[in-house]
Amino acid sequence: MDVSALQGRRVVVGVGGGIAAYKACDLVRELGRAGAEVRVAMTEAAKEFVTPLSFQALSGHPVLTNYFDPHQEGNFGHLDLARWADLYVVAPATADLLARIRAGMAGDAVTTSLLAFRGPVLLAPAMNVAMWENRLTQENVAALAADPRYAFVGPGAGMLACGDVGAGRLAEVKFIVAAAASRLGGGPLAGRSVLITAGPTREFLDPVRFISNPSTGKMGLALAEAARKLGAKVTVVLGPVGAVERSGFEVVDVVSAEDMAREVLSRVESVDWFIASAAVSDWRPETRAPQKVKKGERPEELKLVRTPDVLAEASRKVAGARKRPLLVGFAAETERVLEHAREKLERKGLDAIVANDVTVPGAGFGTDTNRVTVLTRSGEPRELQGSKREVAEGILQLLMSLSPALAGQQAPGA
Ligand code: CTP
Repeated sequence: MDVSALQGRRVVVGVGGGIAAYKACDLVRELGRAGAEVRVAMTEAAKEFVTPLSFQALSGHPVLTNYFDPHQEGNFGHLDLARWADLYVVAPATADLLARIRAGMAGDAVTTSLLAFRGPVLLAPAMNVAMWENRLTQENVAALAADPRYAFVGPGAGMLACGDVGAGRLAEVKFIVAAAASRLGGGPLAGRSVLITAGPTREFLDPVRFISNPSTGKMGLALAEAARKLGAKVTVVLGPVGAVERSGFEVVDVVSAEDMAREVLSRVESVDWFIASAAVSDWRPETRAPQKVKKGERPEELKLVRTPDVLAEASRKVAGARKRPLLVGFAAETERVLEHAREKLERKGLDAIVANDVTVPGAGFGTDTNRVTVLTRSGEPRELQGSKREVAEGILQLLMSLSPALAGQQAPGA
């Protein structure tokens, strides 16, 4: 069974309180083996069957068991879990849990995080056969199955833990893993690779001083996250931005423009899209003193030289290649925004450029929101506004329409 779609994806396993809860341990392990990053939420009842500690050890993350616990909520609460996940698997989904999910209730760690989750859900029921066959349970199952966001795997038939024979066994773990992979697989960017530059660069004049800019890398990381969610394999060449969420994609840390150029140029020929969102320093000090320059030794003038233009060099490198990646730049401007952006699109040989006026409140460096205009070679300019996540999703949707093989595909939730 091909479970490669799980590679690098984020899966929450919500554990219900049934005798099959112990099998969820194996499920967490197997999802991890398939390359997924797994976090676990448990109902109160589930804790009667398996300890949270077991799941913590197997998943490598603290387990969400109580959304009233300020410590848990402060660390990685039910909303964090919901935002983080690409897929939510409920196993075992007991009769009680199915009823509460169907009713939209939110009274424990599983149902609260699940109700706040916007992505695909896989339910693996397990219960006594009479409970499974009960009209009420069947109505709940039918109502959930009618919603395309919910899919079921199992239950299997056979001898149940209670001694009864019939349907009600938790599906075999390998089938749950395969169903999870198929729920995630086939994203519109599955099999595509995306290279992104993000953050500032630092150009040192001595070991303790540098030239840089206020970029925080948020826009580039939002693009990485959005591309990952669409199934792409993502690499971010990231300037110094401090601690950021970096799971689910490869991060190559760099400091200077030269480092960034080297890492990009060694990869750009083999990717499908290259998006340059980094705020690369355009100049660096001509020399870098090996030791800290003392105040008294201050040079009268600081001589600056140009750094490599990462995007322009990447564009030159792939020009004329049989399989040339889609090239996307950013233009952070303070005046005549579209005119400057159009000029950069032409000069750097790009397919699209994302222009933003960094003087507008709520746009540009360090903010959580952005307001941009995307220019392409042929189409009309498109304005996008919202959180950086929303803008990132809008940009990717537009880029998909520029890639002939992807045109017409809709990103989920778009
Ligand atoms: N860029 C780059 N390497 C540089 C400078 C810019 O890769 N040394 C990329 C940026 O990531 C962005 C695009 O080029 O995608 C435009 O960057 P910008 O600094 O606005 O353009 P410049 O070409 O530097 O033009 P100017 O500074 O004159 O506005």
